Amino acid sequence: MVSPQYQSLIEKDFSYIWHPFTQMQDYMLTDPLIVERGEGVMLYDVDGRAYYDSVASIWTNTLGHHHPALTDAIIRQAQKVAHSTLLGHANVPSILLAERLIQISPEGLRKVFYCDSGAEAVEIALKMAFQYWQHKGRPKKKAFVKFVEAYHGDTIGAVSVGAVDMFHAVYRDLLFPTLEVMYPYCYRCPLNKELSTCQHACLEPLRDLLAQRSDDIAALIVEPIQGSSGIITMPQGYLTQLRELCTEYDVLMIVDEVATGFGRTGQMFACDHEGVSPDLMTIGKGLTGGYLPVAATLTSDEVYEAFLAPYEDRKTFFHGHTFTGNQLGCAVAIENLNQFESLDIIEHVREMAEVARVVLARFNDLEHVGEIRQKGLFIGIELVKDKQTKEAYDWNDRIGVKVGERARELGMINRTLGPIALFIPPLIVNQQEILAMLDILYESIKWATNGETV
Ligand SMILES: Cc1ncc(COP(=O)(O)O)c(C=O)c1O
Repeated sequence: MVSPQYQSLIEKDFSYIWHPFTQMQDYMLTDPLIVERGEGVMLYDVDGRAYYDSVASIWTNTLGHHHPALTDAIIRQAQKVAHSTLLGHANVPSILLAERLIQISPEGLRKVFYCDSGAEAVEIALKMAFQYWQHKGRPKKKAFVKFVEAYHGDTIGAVSVGAVDMFHAVYRDLLFPTLEVMYPYCYRCPLNKELSTCQHACLEPLRDLLAQRSDDIAALIVEPIQGSSGIITMPQGYLTQLRELCTEYDVLMIVDEVATGFGRTGQMFACDHEGVSPDLMTIGKGLTGGYLPVAATLTSDEVYEAFLAPYEDRKTFFHGHTFTGNQLGCAVAIENLNQFESLDIIEHVREMAEVARVVLARFNDLEHVGEIRQKGLFIGIELVKDKQTKEAYDWNDRIGVKVGERARELGMINRTLGPIALFIPPLIVNQQEILAMLDILYESIKWATNGETV
């Protein structure tokens, strides 16, 4: 039962809102969770019911909800100015944040181009890479290499370099052509090899492609861990090999760190695990602690300088969004980074990741847990119909939906990715909260998969 106030909000929600990634016909049959406030790792609905935020509000939240220092940073900035344009002018927080971002980013990234969402950051990277080669006098270099099951956001350019059929197939006729290569999804190796002996054989088709077509290829775009297709972690050394191939064949490397940046994997950026420096890097989500929509594309001087020319040459990067470099967003992002330093968040993530790793071992007892994939606090649990054969669940089994529904009944928000259950908590999570959340997740998976243990 919900209160009359809750009921009235549900009716208005049904009347007026079209929710993202949501089949509204189904949604109208549910009783939606309407969040009113948050505190730490908890979210509270309009009637005061508490829920663990076990997916950090779509992987954005770093320091918990309603963190006093972050809230304060927004208020302090709002008392000065909330927004003024970055088109041809500057503002204080965007300058100070850009300096900080360059200090903490992989070596060689020297310039920050702001926007409002991860997908926009990807669009910008693609357009910059494309235009870079025009300016360098190599206009044939137009193509993009992408990975099977890649996800880079939902705008048309980002969808063009994406490859999640479920989301993207319907738009195929709208997309620009791309070259697709295998991602090292080792649990279901596309070449049926074993990681211990394969010597990353799945890189060979990419090497061949680059060898044959590098005159046509502008850039390769890659997620260092494929997030939305199921937290698919790369084997150690793979990203380095991609970097080497891009350098060898004169192809720009775009690393999409929208999901993996800002401590999520136990380093500031996933690139840092291997000391890889991309030519362009996209960031978003955790940048503002999950408080406001700021994202950015970082580039090397080499890319930036290709756009410097006399006004008349029209080599300007003609791209910008109304809220680019928004002061409130940049101010809270700076405070987020201050807190990362003073609370040593990266070390905290490593410690909590170890706590989670130990608890997660127990999940292997469940009959339908196929593989647990973890890098820091970026964790996916692939559920399978048959553990031995790795037979996948059918979309219509709604296995992930069931996990989410049960978790909610037990007091936790958990948005799954099809048959992949997720554990991606706010980075500030403590040991006790991890134990509580993983208990709920274990029970939810057990319930959704009919309670069977090995
Ligand atoms: C790797 C990656 N790139 C880009 C995006 C798109 O970001 P946004 O939803 O902010 O547009 C996402 C979102 O999940 C992502 O995981």
